[in-house]
Amino acid sequence: MTPPIELIRAAIFHTPRNPFATDHALEAFADGCLAISAERVVQLGDYAAVRAQHPDAQVHDWRGSIVLPGLIDAHTHFPQTRIIGGLGLRLLDWLRSYALPEELRMGDVDYARAVAQQFTRELARHGTTTALVFGAHFESATQALFEAAAARGIRIATGLVFSDRELPAGLLRKPEDAYHAANRLIAQFHGRNHARYAVTPRFALSTSEEMLEVCATLMREHPGVLFQTHVNENFEEIAAVRRAFRWADTYTAVYDRFSLLGPQSTFAHNVHPTAAELSRLAATDSSVAHCPCSNAMLGSGMFPMRRHLTAGVKFALGTDVGAGIGFGVLKEALHSYLTQQSMPGGAALSPAHLLYLATRAGALALGLGDECGDFSSGKSADLVRFQPPQDAPLAHALARAESPERMLAALITQAGPESVREVRVAGRALSL
Ligand code: GUN
Ligand code: FE
Repeated sequence: MTPPIELIRAAIFHTPRNPFATDHALEAFADGCLAISAERVVQLGDYAAVRAQHPDAQVHDWRGSIVLPGLIDAHTHFPQTRIIGGLGLRLLDWLRSYALPEELRMGDVDYARAVAQQFTRELARHGTTTALVFGAHFESATQALFEAAAARGIRIATGLVFSDRELPAGLLRKPEDAYHAANRLIAQFHGRNHARYAVTPRFALSTSEEMLEVCATLMREHPGVLFQTHVNENFEEIAAVRRAFRWADTYTAVYDRFSLLGPQSTFAHNVHPTAAELSRLAATDSSVAHCPCSNAMLGSGMFPMRRHLTAGVKFALGTDVGAGIGFGVLKEALHSYLTQQSMPGGAALSPAHLLYLATRAGALALGLGDECGDFSSGKSADLVRFQPPQDAPLAHALARAESPERMLAALITQAGPESVREVRVAGRALSL
């Protein structure tokens, strides 16, 4: 028996095409209808047309709401949920003062479970359905994140964070132990409950060549596993990496030597790349996670978006909690807009670009381009319903918006968790 079709009636927007490459990338239906069957999208169109094809289907009348594809966060750290807001420090001092002491607390599995619960709940409350997440340096804490995400129904990719030098001793592990722990986590969680494993060296500065070799081995032995790390975030960090790997011409070349670039790989930040690094990232179809809030908080610099576009490097948005300012991927999109507006030679971003960066670009970065990120037929029914509180300025802005672009612009600028009414992954509503 085929599962029944449900119809969702609302203003519905998505970007199935790349607005950086083509005009008319935004598809908008002011009185739209999304037909879903069990966990998949069947059809998207104007309400009257879709309804006529499914006269007997159940209708969810969400008029007054805006429905978008579920938001995708391409870079965040679950252990840093409770340390957002460290002002006044740059990367390496911030790591020492804020991030690493909290990362050490993940050794207490009860604490890690509580934080993992809170982290996945915040993702859902902000409309995020999919995330590429740094786990913890501890196996049991990373397990806690996989379990919390499965319990909430969120699509995540995460992994044990690897480091074997430079960091506090409690965060270090031997490469061989890291290898075995990752294998256990892959066996336990990869490919189950919408979860995938991501091989996760913290950054080149905290990993030896032997540890990077372990990363390469894991990637070779487990096709389908993702890779994530940091690159080119801060000048002091870049200089330290250059001193640590004298044979490498660039920061990216360190990862490249171990065959860690590729379509399965996402590199966070990349604020200060050389032309050669951009060429290598493009040639290998690697992705960059663009984290404008974190870059501003830590004074790392402004993302050279035009250079990424010209070089053909894919990028998506990352909130980078806890260096970033919170869990909102739309807020991240807005900050990308603000940064590009403010910097000389910045890219001109429309609401369609911002929606794309918050949804389909993330799906492509995470290897989920055929699975989620837009509402094309056959994709997973991952969606977020926004409806601002009655009488909120956003409600008025939406009511008087004269075009879909204006609605989307107001939504991206103003919508926070107070406006998120429902979130579904594979058709199933998440508890918020
Ligand atoms: N580089 C290495 N670790 C981190 C981290 O936790 N946050 C950021 N923003 N950069 C990093
Ligand atoms: Fe980060």
